[in-house]
Amino acid sequence: ERLPALLAAMPKAELHIHIEGSLEPELIFELAKRNGVALAYPSVEALRAAYAFTDLQSFLDIYYAGASVLLTEDDFHDMAWAYLRRAAAENVLHTEIFFDPQTHTARGVPMEAVIHGLKRAADRAGAELGVSAQLILCFLRHLSEDDALQTLEQALPLREHFIGAGLDSSERGHPPEKFARVFARCRELGLRLVAHAGEEGPPEYIWNALDVLKVERIDHGVRCLGDPALVQRLAREHIPLTVCPLSNVKLCVFDQLGAHNLGELLSAGLAATVNSDDPAYFGGYLNQNYLETFAALPLDAGHAYTLARNSFEASFADQADKARWI
Ligand code: ADE
Ligand code: ZN
Repeated sequence: ERLPALLAAMPKAELHIHIEGSLEPELIFELAKRNGVALAYPSVEALRAAYAFTDLQSFLDIYYAGASVLLTEDDFHDMAWAYLRRAAAENVLHTEIFFDPQTHTARGVPMEAVIHGLKRAADRAGAELGVSAQLILCFLRHLSEDDALQTLEQALPLREHFIGAGLDSSERGHPPEKFARVFARCRELGLRLVAHAGEEGPPEYIWNALDVLKVERIDHGVRCLGDPALVQRLAREHIPLTVCPLSNVKLCVFDQLGAHNLGELLSAGLAATVNSDDPAYFGGYLNQNYLETFAALPLDAGHAYTLARNSFEASFADQADKARWI
């Protein structure tokens, strides 16, 4: 089979990866031991066995519990370094990494430990692996906008270390417009803007992410197809969608990979990309997402090329880097 080899070997970018979602059960147990943190599961196997999700919230509950072992700058470095080595092995040339500072600062972890640890791994990836890695700070939408504003203020002394801001966590009941002020402030600061929208939430959340938050990319966005006017808008303005096929199946957004709408998104002229979301929880890193999705859907080498090109074009890298990669 030539297609699987092509998918694995082709250069690509990853634009939707939550670094806390790359924390493998083995590393969770290692960090728990190192830091003296008690876990609710007796073993790696027992923890992994709990990875059976019915929706986004059922995943988030266990994802935040897993992140509780992260305390020191070295912990954040080690987690990100493990992901970046994996990315390099999968021919990822560029990655834009989400992190959730509120998950850590709420437990008393200093903002500096989070950002310095991640940044040290990102810089090391550039030097030692030839992978360019950037950070995007995400606000937790189940918390208040005031909490997000305070988090932004705490991160501002470290502004040079991250390129953008995003919005993640529980989507339903927490529409984009709840975060209008903090996104306006991020925009003034010159941060690149993204938001999760249309994963579980309705097309209206995608409209408001664009019109109110003024984001440049939509994370997931798979529910846009229910709204033809929205599809037209996304296509005309070349708004990229960072699609995460294995995630969508694990969180029951689609019953099975064969029912995923990635092919329809591409046919509609949308700038869709393939990403892993939370690879330690959803059954695979980036290449596994490409391999399984192409095995389940009628996609060919032309689609593979389009998706890889889209991943570079949709990235926040500068034009010179894009020109080298594409
Ligand atoms: N945080 C980590 N993964 C997420 C997802 N798929 N949706 C929303 N928030 C998340
Ligand atoms: Zn996500």
